[in-house]
Amino acid sequence: MKPPLRVAVTGAAGQISYNLIFSIANGDMLGPDQPVALHLLEIPIAMDGLRGVAMEIDDCAFPLVTEIVLTSDPAVAFKGVHWALLVGSKPRGKGMERNDLIRENGPIFVSQGKALNDNAAADVKVLVVGNPCNTNCLIAQRNAPRIPRDHWFAMTRLDHNRAIAQLAIKSKRPVASVTNMTIWGNHSATQYPDFQHARIDGKPTMEAIGDRAWLETDFISTVQQRGARVIEARGKSSAASAANAAMGHVHTFTFGTAPGDWTSAAVVSDGSYGVPEGIVSSFPIRVKKGGAWEIVQGLDIDAFGREKLKKTIVELEAEREVVRDLLQR
Ligand code: NAD
Ligand code: LMR
Repeated sequence: MKPPLRVAVTGAAGQISYNLIFSIANGDMLGPDQPVALHLLEIPIAMDGLRGVAMEIDDCAFPLVTEIVLTSDPAVAFKGVHWALLVGSKPRGKGMERNDLIRENGPIFVSQGKALNDNAAADVKVLVVGNPCNTNCLIAQRNAPRIPRDHWFAMTRLDHNRAIAQLAIKSKRPVASVTNMTIWGNHSATQYPDFQHARIDGKPTMEAIGDRAWLETDFISTVQQRGARVIEARGKSSAASAANAAMGHVHTFTFGTAPGDWTSAAVVSDGSYGVPEGIVSSFPIRVKKGGAWEIVQGLDIDAFGREKLKKTIVELEAEREVVRDLLQR
């Protein structure tokens, strides 16, 4: 039996976590032979709800779960953890943009960044889900100087999956036929879902779909606005698909991307593709088994794509200005 990996989930009594934690416990994220110790963080007022979640975890009798820690103290939640999934924060409601939450949710990521810095395992990796996730990730990362920059991620995997699904539906091909998808920039309405480098059955998307007007307009706006459409329909933001994306992210950054393919994740920019160094932006990322990753280099971005990339980067820089006071430890 392998030693357990410690996985922290914040906002553990919330709707995403209600799906996510059970899949982690079942071995879907880190593998069917990997025991896990669950570290579940909530705010004090939600601790009763969290105790109910813990009862249900017990009642599943998951063979892989070695321990369940329930706490409202980030220092306890992050003690010795190998992965931290930062979900806990307020979701937007109808008619809001994700960055309307920035001053309300941002401070959460100051204290959690500090607590991760001081308590997590030396090799901890952090995935920020709570919105606006790119800038929240930047805040936490800047408050945790001990944790290497390449261990920080904000989640654009849901956008990535949405983009793949839309191309599969349009081309009437199975989802597995769609590869090499990239989400560039912010997890927001300015993100650029890049159809130009995506492939369907190995063919360029343009060739497989043959409708550039649809790709440039409906495809992009459907992916950009999907979160808002789900909120309109459900009255609550996406939860099962968000949990599935978080699991997919960690799985990929553990087991690697398929040969020739890549994934999307927001990482601390190293200046690739002219994205300003230091901001947390989504890129095409190739991952090796074990989790070492690199930004895919050398993609040729045309004038249309450059314009889209510029717009989302301008927004990320503006968000950084709004939280500048939260970026210093
Ligand atoms: P939710 O309101 O159902 O749950 C959030 C939970 O976080 C609540 O239980 C709350 O008590 C808890 N919480 C709040 N502050 C906390 C803190 N300081 N420490 C620990 N826990 C805290 O919300 P949800 O639907 O689960 O969504 C959570 C976040 O994820 C939202 O910000 C939402 O916008 C975001 N989200 C991101 C993506 C993405 O693709 N990146 C997708 C879906 C949702
Ligand atoms: C999503 O993309 O579904 C989430 O970020 C929730 C939201 O606010 O759209």
